[in-house]
Amino acid sequence: MTTETQKETLGFQAEVKQLLRLMIHSLYSNKEIFLRELISNASDACDKLRFEALSDAALYEGDTELKIRVAYDKAARTLTLSDSGIGMSRNEVIENIGTIARSGTREFLDRLTGDQSKDAHLIGQFGVGFYSSFIVADKVTLITRRAGLGPEHGVRWESAGEGDYTLETVSKERHGTDVILHLREGEDEFLADWRLQTIIRKYSDHITLPILMQFEGKDAEEAVNQANALWARPKSDITEEQYTEFYKHVAHDFEPALARVHSKVEGKQEYTMLLYVPGHAPFDLWDREQRHGIKLYVRRVFIMEDVDKLMPHYLRFVRGVIDSNDLPLNVSREILQHSRDIDSIRAGATKKALGMLEELAESDREKYTRFWQEFGRVLKEGVGEDFANKERIAKLLRFASTHADSEAEQVSLADYVARMKEGQDKIYYVTADSFAAAKNSPHLEIFRKKGVEVLLLHDRVDEWLVSNLPEFEGRALQSVAKGELNLGALEDAEEKKVREQADDAFKDFVTKIKTALGEQVKEVRISHRLTDSPACLVVDAQEMGMNLERMLKAAGQAVPLSKPILEVNPQHPLVTLLKQEPGDARFGDFSQILFDQALLSEGGQLDDPAGFVKKLNGLMLSLAHKPA
Ligand SMILES: Nc1ncnc2c1ncn2[C@@H]1O[C@H](COP(=O)(O)OP(=O)(O)O)[C@@H](O)[C@H]1O
Ligand SMILES: [Mg+2]
Repeated sequence: MTTETQKETLGFQAEVKQLLRLMIHSLYSNKEIFLRELISNASDACDKLRFEALSDAALYEGDTELKIRVAYDKAARTLTLSDSGIGMSRNEVIENIGTIARSGTREFLDRLTGDQSKDAHLIGQFGVGFYSSFIVADKVTLITRRAGLGPEHGVRWESAGEGDYTLETVSKERHGTDVILHLREGEDEFLADWRLQTIIRKYSDHITLPILMQFEGKDAEEAVNQANALWARPKSDITEEQYTEFYKHVAHDFEPALARVHSKVEGKQEYTMLLYVPGHAPFDLWDREQRHGIKLYVRRVFIMEDVDKLMPHYLRFVRGVIDSNDLPLNVSREILQHSRDIDSIRAGATKKALGMLEELAESDREKYTRFWQEFGRVLKEGVGEDFANKERIAKLLRFASTHADSEAEQVSLADYVARMKEGQDKIYYVTADSFAAAKNSPHLEIFRKKGVEVLLLHDRVDEWLVSNLPEFEGRALQSVAKGELNLGALEDAEEKKVREQADDAFKDFVTKIKTALGEQVKEVRISHRLTDSPACLVVDAQEMGMNLERMLKAAGQAVPLSKPILEVNPQHPLVTLLKQEPGDARFGDFSQILFDQALLSEGGQLDDPAGFVKKLNGLMLSLAHKPA
């Protein structure tokens, strides 16, 4: 204990230093936002106290009226923000203020370009919260005490925002946090009540706790904000700007949201929700330990922030509040776990969230594309996760396709269906591990020739997606690399005749290749899907696709050994050449080269790459020496 009482000096994480310097420069033109950030933190701290006090009312220490105070001292040139929230222990100060507890810090810094305007944008995405105080202050003192710990457990943190900070154990009568900003030279504008009032009204009016300030010439403090819940007001009374500032607070985001839905549900369950789709993915989108989610209120009183009870996992990017009229005020995490009321709120909120995405897709293609880039992969999870809403989710999916042949994922299944050829009854797709591999897949040749669109799936989760989506609006999704190609009505009588003739004429030839390749293939047959390539590999309709098989193997899973089918293109000159090859040894090498090639263009790996090169070289040389 005694060592802790002494003043100690600790260094910031190297990243923090870098971030601070950058932030001060890039956010200076918008410096007043520091106040919003500090008020937002104070409000969060009060919310946390309220939640913990549900199970331990003693934490209030006799004062249940949570408040935020703003005060300034012209002579000392300080601005002080105080809250009666949860406060922090010494360790929490080190963890929350001394380090940036966000997993993506390193990656974030790696993405910085050095170009100020671009970096300002990135900083905006990252969010700098507490550190924004250093935009206007050259020294920040934070005095805090965790509710429930005695007055002697106060902590004083101080830093000039350079490389280090000091920590000291002090005595603090009340729980909660005071943040004292020692303003930089030239920042005296923040030492005026009217100026502070304007900023607070602009950015923090939606804060549900009173923000108190004593105006000059007055004896008592007054609330500066309206302090009523924004979502409970009629929509017509809320300005666009208020909606945006509220979003930034609940989502801990610096940039505006892409879309929102504000809705009051009446009936068996009564609740109001205000949900938003962020404009960019948070850094912990793929983290199991995601920090933020939806805030649950009961009759305007904050209960908790939750990441999995109020929204399904595949909508984990949605932010906002849900305020129930029916749940008991003392609802605990345990009750939430098994609450039917919560289940029905969650189902309702899910529908609203999907509705919000549908509307965005309909009304603003450009914004929807941005949404898809940020969250498409997450939304795809819903196809397997949420059976009840599968159809709606399927309509929200976007893919690349041969229609535009570009990597941008902009084709919906409905777009595809609308472009289907006469006589086409399936939705065709190809899967590969990169866009280039998908786009150049030999399996597409016949489809390109006939002008039939094929979806180009190149995201790892797409294999899983299609396995959960056998059809869309009554049309089967069909891999172009699986099963016998049956173009049905897309094939005319003439083509059918040619195909059948080829099957006959090449019968002995394909048997001979099969003998040469032995156990490597399940079958060799004449291909009707190739126009330019000599050969390709396919699998039986009911078997696992080769791309999926490779993915599973790479992930260390035991995969049942399945053998591919080699299809050869009877029109291709190399195949004709092989057909005429008299020597058995050369026929064998040649067949092997065809097989290996097909495997390579599929995205597969050769068992014996050196053997392939050797055979290929041998063949090239022998062909070169052959008299023309
Ligand atoms: N007034 C406060 N009371 C209690 N904890 C605080 C306060 N201000 C900041 N913190 C802690 O510091 C952390 C970092 O704050 P901040 O940089 O604003 O990021 P964020 O609010 O997005 O978490 C908060 O998550 C919280 O744990
Ligand atoms: Mg914050």
